[in-house]
Amino acid sequence: MASSPTFDALLSKIEARSARAGIIGLGYVGLPLAMAIARSGFPVTGFDIDPGKIVSIEARRSYIDAVTSHDLAAQIDDGRFSATTEFAALKDCDVIVICVPTPLTKHRDPDLSFVEATSHAIAAHLRAGQLIVLESTTYPGTTDDIVKVILEKTGLKSGKDFFVGFSPEREDPGNQHFHTATIPKVVAGDGAEALALMTSFYGAAVKTVVPVSSNATAEAVKLTENIFRSVNIALVNELKTVYAAMGIDVWEVIDAAKTKPFGYMPFYPGPGLGGHCIPIDPFYLTWKSREYELPTRFIELAGEINSAMPRYVVGKLAEALDIRAGKALSRSRVLVLGLAYKKNVADIRESPSLRLIELIEERGGKADYHDPHVAEIPPTREYQALKGRKSVSLENLADYDVVLIATDHDGIDYGALAKNAPLIIDTRNVFARQGLQGDHIVKA
Ligand SMILES: NC(=O)c1ccc[n+]([C@@H]2O[C@H](COP(=O)([O-])OP(=O)(O)OC[C@H]3O[C@@H](n4cnc5c(N)ncnc54)[C@H](O)[C@@H]3O)[C@@H](O)[C@H]2O)c1
Repeated sequence: MASSPTFDALLSKIEARSARAGIIGLGYVGLPLAMAIARSGFPVTGFDIDPGKIVSIEARRSYIDAVTSHDLAAQIDDGRFSATTEFAALKDCDVIVICVPTPLTKHRDPDLSFVEATSHAIAAHLRAGQLIVLESTTYPGTTDDIVKVILEKTGLKSGKDFFVGFSPEREDPGNQHFHTATIPKVVAGDGAEALALMTSFYGAAVKTVVPVSSNATAEAVKLTENIFRSVNIALVNELKTVYAAMGIDVWEVIDAAKTKPFGYMPFYPGPGLGGHCIPIDPFYLTWKSREYELPTRFIELAGEINSAMPRYVVGKLAEALDIRAGKALSRSRVLVLGLAYKKNVADIRESPSLRLIELIEERGGKADYHDPHVAEIPPTREYQALKGRKSVSLENLADYDVVLIATDHDGIDYGALAKNAPLIIDTRNVFARQGLQGDHIVKA
């Protein structure tokens, strides 16, 4: 079948790198993506409803760890990147990529309000010859049943006048080995021409493109990856509690098990799940599966086990205080080390550390935290009472009865901690990994 003139024109623009890309939502995903696309030669306009982000970009100040201010300044000064809150500029974009949040509602259902609002904003400026891409993580069917449907209300048709695709984001904050351009990118489109445009566009910015047959398949790929992590983390968390009762160290078990050169992949236990993805995304599939009257037992069981971890850890902490220091948690001061959900990042979204502090205080203990990446607790929806608390110095360890390692940030002097803290609860096995031992270091 001959290709359409709209397709040919857009493909030529993409191949010549003269197509303008519009990135909507300049957060953890959108800003690094905008940089990768600009670096590959496309002119890029970033859009966000948060004027603070635009001010920061214009001042050449990055607010995302994965993007240096130096790189941001280089792209702006070379004329390849600018950012705005004015959505009318969408009409000048040939490829528009949506990177807005997809959280859960209070009732743990998908909250697609950001995706819908963005789709309406695009529809208001939609013109023939544009490729619209969704990157936000979501359940299979969102791109075709929500984004495309909203866009087609303009009277323009997907596959004929404009094109629609989905490509999941695989950012791994803090990962030193992989970044946007070197992580293989799964792409899909509504129809063969949309897929060809997706392959050409992303192929210009990332090293490896992995085309799949439909947008719903690509949406399912992303959920599968995150469900896989959630279930495997839950499994080792469950094994941790069982082995601990048997006097077996789960970390030692995992270190030995991973020497098997096939059929095993190590996952590590911890104080609970955190971040914007793993605790949330699996429930997008649970919600969609209800439409098919199918249960998602693995997902829900993993959710239950992982969200029980902070309570398990605080139970271990109270037990250790009681047995080793003869002290009740209600009369103790606890220093929680690490507020971010994973090491070496500043991201506290869904961080179990917040829940740990809450649980310690529910039981009458007094908790402070230290985190070199998080100077102060910002406002959060769930932990409003913790807002404004500040990271304390590690110099006053004598003020605390126990240090709880929630996040194993690099750059902490664990040797000094092992020497000076009277009692340590280690949920990350960081002391053993550094060869530091002692009766006062308890794994949990
Ligand atoms: N953070 C990650 O590591 C990661 C990894 C893979 C996938 N994802 C997915 O990517 C998507 C975005 O996540 P994120 O972490 O970048 O979120 P984020 O909160 O860091 O950024 C989202 C940005 O979108 C902006 N925004 C919200 N509504 C908007 C609108 N109507 N128009 C324009 N801008 C709007 C916000 O102001 C914010 O700057 C989510 O679906 C998430 O699940 C995130």
